Amino acid sequence: MAQKKSKKPSKKPTKKAAKKAVEPDIRKGLVGVIADTTAVSKVMPETNSLTYRGYAVQDLAASCSFEEVAYLLLNGDLPNRKQLNAFKKKERSLRKLSAAHTQVISKFPKKAHPMDTIRTAVSYLGTTEVAWGGEPEEADMERAINMLSKIPTMIATDFRLRNGKKRISPRTDLSMAENFFHMCFGKVPPKAVVKAFDVSLILYAEHSFNASTFTSRVITSTRSDIYSAVVGGIGALKGPLHGGANEAVMEMMRAIRTPARAEPWIRDAMANKKLIMGFGHRVYKQGDSRVPTMKSCLEDLTKWSGDTKWLGIYNILADIFVNEKGIHPNLDFPSGPAYYLMGFPINLYTPIFVMARITGWSAHYLEQNANNALIRPLSAYSGRAQRKVPAIAKRK
Ligand code: COA
Repeated sequence: MAQKKSKKPSKKPTKKAAKKAVEPDIRKGLVGVIADTTAVSKVMPETNSLTYRGYAVQDLAASCSFEEVAYLLLNGDLPNRKQLNAFKKKERSLRKLSAAHTQVISKFPKKAHPMDTIRTAVSYLGTTEVAWGGEPEEADMERAINMLSKIPTMIATDFRLRNGKKRISPRTDLSMAENFFHMCFGKVPPKAVVKAFDVSLILYAEHSFNASTFTSRVITSTRSDIYSAVVGGIGALKGPLHGGANEAVMEMMRAIRTPARAEPWIRDAMANKKLIMGFGHRVYKQGDSRVPTMKSCLEDLTKWSGDTKWLGIYNILADIFVNEKGIHPNLDFPSGPAYYLMGFPINLYTPIFVMARITGWSAHYLEQNANNALIRPLSAYSGRAQRKVPAIAKRK
């Protein structure tokens, strides 16, 4: 039996196939791209969990201080008592700013956003580099601890001076969290409030290849210095899609004003397809691992302050948005109102994030430097085809 001739494949590819063959695989926003390995932290969206150097972040928040977590991120392991004491002693000894540095901060325009002033104050520190000696990695570790120690003083000094108040010198008998309250307000609040603040610093410390850390790693990869990497990180963190969201959350809650207005507000926002600050995440799609711990701090602060308004607004917005859109709150959602209840002005929330994230940025700087490859992706050109330069008289 004669076999039926199979249909010959057409030699000419269809327009669609031709287009597909030349179209590069563009991952806009680098969605889903694994750019490198890291041993600093692991984000696991499938289980809504996060580990720093192998430890669950909620366990670190429950059992450790921010100083212990800073040591862990920078060194790879939790400190023993002797190591922690030495680390704390060093951090405390470096808190003071030079007179020239304070003078620079005092000259900043009073209307500048504190993220712009902290970015510039860190950059200034990079210009005052002294000879550190030792191996390059050791010198960078020194610089990292110096920034960890001085950034809170820079933020608090700027906060006091811009409000026409005298700056308050750091104390060496207080933890980092206690000392920050002392330098901002001249007093240290009750233990529960300090603990909530300390926990927020732990939760904000590190989050793998987020936008600001990746920015820092790109800068590091050119063999630039740690100050430049941190300054770039601060610039990226400022944006409201990243760290700036904690300020935007509180501005939003203040605009809503009362729990009674929360439901109509969010329904109107959803109907108008508005971006609701403090919700959504590039990696977590079923909930941010850090939110339950920070929400519990917000509940403690609500009890302590007696101001139930913000938690009321929080619960209504979260219930409706999660149920109806399936989009969950991220860490900025509870930390915005938590910082408000602690008494910090709204424009200090993202600088506080800097105080914490300096640990993650520094750990990534050290890691990138130890095994470097220049980060330089490709782009697909979408502009005009190549053309001749016309004489000026012939140009339209
Ligand atoms: N409010 C309203 N809609 C949101 C939203 C939010 N906060 N977050 C995500 N969505 C919607 C998007 O509009 C998009 O809808 P569409 O598919 O109909 O276009 C969908 O959810 C997917 O979001 P997408 O923007 O693709 O996710 P992403 O990974 O690019 O963005 C964020 C992640 C964080 C940038 C985004 O969720 C956001 O802008 N959140 C608000 C800012 C914020 O809280 N940032 C802090 C992050 S830790």
